[in-house]
Amino acid sequence: MAGETRKTIVNSWNEWDPLKHVIVGVADGCMIPPSEPASECKIPIDSDMKGKWGPRPQETVEKANIQLDNFAKILEDRGIRVDRPTPLDFSQAVSTPDWEMLSMFGCMPPRDVIVTVGNEMLEATMSYRSRWFEYLCYRPLIEQYYKEDPNMRWEAAPKPRLTDASYKPGYLSRVMTNEDRLKLTAAKDFVTTEKEPLFDAAEFARFGKDIVIQHGFTANLAGINWVSRHFPDLRIHAMNFPGDPYPIHIDCTFIPLRPGLVLNNPIRHVLPEHRKFFEMNDWEIVEAAPAAHENPPPLCYSSVWLSMNVLVLDPKTVCVEASEHATMEQLEKLGFEVVPVPFRDAYPFGGGLHCATTDVYREGDCEDYFPKQVEGF
Ligand code: NVA
Repeated sequence: MAGETRKTIVNSWNEWDPLKHVIVGVADGCMIPPSEPASECKIPIDSDMKGKWGPRPQETVEKANIQLDNFAKILEDRGIRVDRPTPLDFSQAVSTPDWEMLSMFGCMPPRDVIVTVGNEMLEATMSYRSRWFEYLCYRPLIEQYYKEDPNMRWEAAPKPRLTDASYKPGYLSRVMTNEDRLKLTAAKDFVTTEKEPLFDAAEFARFGKDIVIQHGFTANLAGINWVSRHFPDLRIHAMNFPGDPYPIHIDCTFIPLRPGLVLNNPIRHVLPEHRKFFEMNDWEIVEAAPAAHENPPPLCYSSVWLSMNVLVLDPKTVCVEASEHATMEQLEKLGFEVVPVPFRDAYPFGGGLHCATTDVYREGDCEDYFPKQVEGF
């Protein structure tokens, strides 16, 4: 069946089963949002975006869209159905009764906003004010899926108020250097408070019956607890990774590749008690190869570790950014067919190949890959 004519069924339990239907973001109208309590601490000190806001240069939007469209075509040529979100006018100001933002962000990274767990698509709470309304870009698709698939569950996590009480006052003044940040994040002292449940969808790494959620700047324990109570039949594990000064989204840190194999960022450490859980269930955690670049492209929020932000198409095939030679070689040695995808022009708009997608359908059911569980994890 050609990718585009595939019938709608929502089903995806992990990050590796054969992918048949996916959403790929678009770069149209993407903004650098004005400063807000979340971004003050979450944007790296030396970022070229500090103090800047407004529309991104149009020629960069066009270049990003060329790579996003090409990525969509590569997937379609492999028989995968690809749908695209509907951008809003992200330059407009938005407000709730609690706050006003002079612009929104964009809709290049669907992974940040929507997570599919089995037959459910769940809209995340989100944790930035500028991204509070981003779910609206996906509503036309989700409404369509909901009509077409009678078994689909459509859920939205409670929208957070994101008042100043959701962010620690004075956090920024405590993080003058990178070492300060590393100390705080290793101690799980993050910018977000526990005032209300918060999570971005990109903090999820799905392993069937087990889901890992990164506890960091964009998911708090209240959010992880909400997810546990929302999925009572699944086992939700909070992980944090000392060594990351900006723990935002798990998919440059800990990437499941296939049953028994996870790729881990070599400078963002898996705690020994967490490693034990994987190893006692016969999972191997391998260190990712070095990134090819010393710096991310201009006006990019993410680190060079987008090198490991790969999209697994099935347990033997993986899409990797085309300039990341060490990563490609590593994955080939691990037995994968590697599909190179040029994507660096799209990075500034919200990340890499994993960020720019969200699963709608992967073959396969909910499997238990971790029969040995550890109390309290
Ligand atoms: N915060 C991560 C990006 C995750 C897609 C990083 O910059 O490494």
